[in-house]
Amino acid sequence: TARLVTGIGALVTCAGPGGDVPVGDRSLDAATRLGVVEGAAVVVEDGWVAWVGPAAQAPAADDRVDLQGRAVVPGFVDSHAHLVSAGDRAAEFAARMAGTPYDGGGIGVSVAATRAASDDELRALLAARVAEARALGTTTLEVKSGYGLTVEDEARALRLAAEVTDETTFLGAHVVPAEWRDDRGGYLDLVTGPMLAACAPHAHWVDVFCEPRSPHAFTAEEARRVLLAGRAAGLGLRVHGNQLGPGPGVRLAVELGAASVDHCTFLDDADVDALAAASDTTVATLLPGVEFSTRMPYPDARRLLAAGASVALASDCNPGTCNTAAMPFVIALAVRELRMTGAEALVAATVGGARALRRTDVGRVAVGARADLAVLEAPSYEHLAYRPGMPLARALS
Ligand code: NIG
Ligand code: FE
Repeated sequence: TARLVTGIGALVTCAGPGGDVPVGDRSLDAATRLGVVEGAAVVVEDGWVAWVGPAAQAPAADDRVDLQGRAVVPGFVDSHAHLVSAGDRAAEFAARMAGTPYDGGGIGVSVAATRAASDDELRALLAARVAEARALGTTTLEVKSGYGLTVEDEARALRLAAEVTDETTFLGAHVVPAEWRDDRGGYLDLVTGPMLAACAPHAHWVDVFCEPRSPHAFTAEEARRVLLAGRAAGLGLRVHGNQLGPGPGVRLAVELGAASVDHCTFLDDADVDALAAASDTTVATLLPGVEFSTRMPYPDARRLLAAGASVALASDCNPGTCNTAAMPFVIALAVRELRMTGAEALVAATVGGARALRRTDVGRVAVGARADLAVLEAPSYEHLAYRPGMPLARALS
């Protein structure tokens, strides 16, 4: 059945002036890509966009919803989130605000709580987080494992994640868990052997926390092993890199053709050059909610954009470094702290996320794309950064 969504004040298609620019086309600047249509309507058929244009020219439909002048943007594509965990680390956050630096050690606290939780408890926590994200405009969500770190607990996390999204990521190499601290090689054998075998059927991607500065995370050589094993098992590659200091993550991700390298907080010239040269392959995903919640310096988005890198924005929602999945908050941070324009931030949170997940069917409002719309309680997308903290965006269901 066809449903007419009408009364849209300003529709941001993120598909360019003609409404047909693909996700992978990087020739347009962000402002041009917005492709704003005033007084627009959209026809949705079975979850897909069938028609976009001025409301006065809209075809007949079985059913209609009138948005009474609200703006519409593509639903946010949050390409990085850790939503399968139990317990919280509010005390760690409070200590950090008082000056204790983040080093990844708190992940073990979440691992213990997650292992102790029942399937139903984890499922309910995950469902509540997905609902919170949708209520703020997110329509595509990547979900990682990484708080189980045993064969059974990682496979369970991915089975649960697969109940809510196709974008599931195996993160057995999040940290070396306490029981393996004296045998890192043994843990890597487990991750790349039986754990990967149990998880790969439920996972689309493999990820690794490559951060030689953290005693808990992985070196470049360890990360390479994990990524190559994941690739051999049919998974696409993602990397957590250059979060806590300069390091090898970005260059490893580019070398292996990963879809995305996430954080990118500490980059040298060679990292930026590598991301620019690989801009059709590897996205630089910025997670400014992490810098907000860890008191770290923000990543240099302007340098990446000036160099021609492909940039995405995501939440990294997790109990340690950023306990929020609010993409409007991430957009506000990107505008205020990363000095991205409102258009750059919105494109990075939609088209950028789609590229980071190698998706062509989301991130835009265009004929042939999924009908994933976010309605704004506002006349224009600029209000997302202009009215931070206000619940302006919701996914249209
Ligand atoms: O992306 N840096 C590694 N992993 C997460 C944090 C996980 C945690 O602290 O629980 C991140 O920031
Ligand atoms: Fe993360």
